[in-house]
Amino acid sequence: MSQEIVLHFKTEEGETRSVDAVIGDSVMETAIKNDIDEVVAECGGSLICSTCHVYLDDETVAIIPEADEAELDMLEGVASERKPNSRLSCQVIVSEAMAGHTIHTPNDQ
Ligand code: FES
Repeated sequence: MSQEIVLHFKTEEGETRSVDAVIGDSVMETAIKNDIDEVVAECGGSLICSTCHVYLDDETVAIIPEADEAELDMLEGVASERKPNSRLSCQVIVSEAMAGHTIHTPNDQ
């Protein structure tokens, strides 16, 4: 059985949904599996669409690998404001340490 943690997805309006996230899935896959419509993920995780843009809290940023150059390039094309904590959720892998963390979704993808 795959191990799961709880992740929270929060919209800019403040609506929060809590979902079960499988460790090893990407945050994007977790969003799609749980009908989080704010994550579009047009390219299915191939790092060519930028429609899986999310904002992360400091506690999450602190425990995940930094974005590589390809992700940083794609982040230049995001539809909503790019912020220091912007990431593409297809490049962020769910880990046990992320249990209870909140993923913030932008209004536009
Ligand atoms: S799903 Fe397309 S870049 Fe993440």
